[in-house]
Amino acid sequence: MSILVTGGAGYIGSHTCVELLNAGYDIIVLDNFSNSNPESLQRVRQITNKSFKIYDVDLLEREKVEMVFEENHVEAVLHFAGLKAVGESVSIPIDYYQNNITGTLVLLEMMARHKVKKIVFSSSATVYGANASVPIIEDSPLGATNPYGSTKLIIEQLLNDVYLSDRSWGIVILRYFNPIGAHISGEIGEDPKGKPNNLMPYITQVAAGKHPRLNIYGKDYPTHDGTGVRDYIHVVDLATGHIKALEKVLSGKGIGAYNLGTGTGISVLDLVHAFEQVTGLNIQYQILDRRPGDSATCFADPKKAREELGWEAIKGIEDMCRDAWRWQSKNPNGYKKVDIVSI
Ligand code: NAD
Ligand code: UD1
Repeated sequence: MSILVTGGAGYIGSHTCVELLNAGYDIIVLDNFSNSNPESLQRVRQITNKSFKIYDVDLLEREKVEMVFEENHVEAVLHFAGLKAVGESVSIPIDYYQNNITGTLVLLEMMARHKVKKIVFSSSATVYGANASVPIIEDSPLGATNPYGSTKLIIEQLLNDVYLSDRSWGIVILRYFNPIGAHISGEIGEDPKGKPNNLMPYITQVAAGKHPRLNIYGKDYPTHDGTGVRDYIHVVDLATGHIKALEKVLSGKGIGAYNLGTGTGISVLDLVHAFEQVTGLNIQYQILDRRPGDSATCFADPKKAREELGWEAIKGIEDMCRDAWRWQSKNPNGYKKVDIVSI
């Protein structure tokens, strides 16, 4: 019996693979490497000293996805595979709907056909829209402000409908807040293509001298220092949340959505200062106008995950900064491009 991890070569998927293997699960990774590199999986093997099957398959390739289910005894699926860049989703919405929604439809069709009715899905706090009141509870009104967010909302609805049609499914929807940091080994981490859009990889690249300064988008928000406040969560805490979610779907039927966040709001300047303190480095920055679509404050109420999954984040902002910097310093240019056949 194996756990199928779609998108397992990506940032969050690779960290979750490590936790799954360390917890004793057999895993199979399916990824098309459109936003990742097989080297992350090679490093997962090194960190854990365990081996696993890798399928270089696109979820849109129906026959190949079916083959994965035919060749393996899949017990449950952790579904990370998807495109995730908000700005890009506005430019190429058709690709986002096609990849994220059709990809999920193919996966669910094959799961149903092979009687694999247990899935943990990677959703996002973006489903709460831009005006949710904080701390955000799972019952807050939902809404999307961009095509990426719409794909997450539609997939959540799809999963609800699947459950309503067949109550023998076990489904957990995880709404991540802002994952940052890296595995403590510094061997796996976030490897953005091109200039990063998100705050933490931009800070680490400024620290590494790749950009002259950080642009801070807005200092006139109604927050304690005027900069945007978010709920940053260590990616390893997020990964352990998936182990708890997997235990939940393996132990029974039902559907539930859970916030994975720390419950603590951290501003852009708080994060910059924490990073400077932990690393002893100086981060140059300039204040620019607000970034369109950003909200002032977004942080989770993580109570439901604590009570129903038995999970809570344990790593602090210093761990997140230290581990992000270790990854960046050990891998100044990210992963080396390796061929799938060589690993
Ligand atoms: P990532 O891009 O690093 O990983 C996604 C992986 O999926 C990549 O390895 C990519 O190659 C693969 N993939 C994409 N489309 C595929 C397809 N059609 N078939 C097979 N593989 C495919 O992203 P991540 O940060 O690890 O995010 C994982 C999931 O979590 C995504 O669904 C993302 O939307 C969601 N999420 C991420 C964040 C975040 O801040 N990183 C926040 C909220 C939700
Ligand atoms: C963004 C996405 C969200 C996605 C998440 C993780 C938007 C509107 N939201 O969240 O859907 O789930 O990334 O991929 O894009 N900031 C700067 N300078 C920078 C980068 C960011 O000041 O160079 C600020 C932002 O204004 C924000 C905070 O840092 O206040 C965090 O930004 P970011 O890391 O991009 O995450 P979100 O915007 O919260």
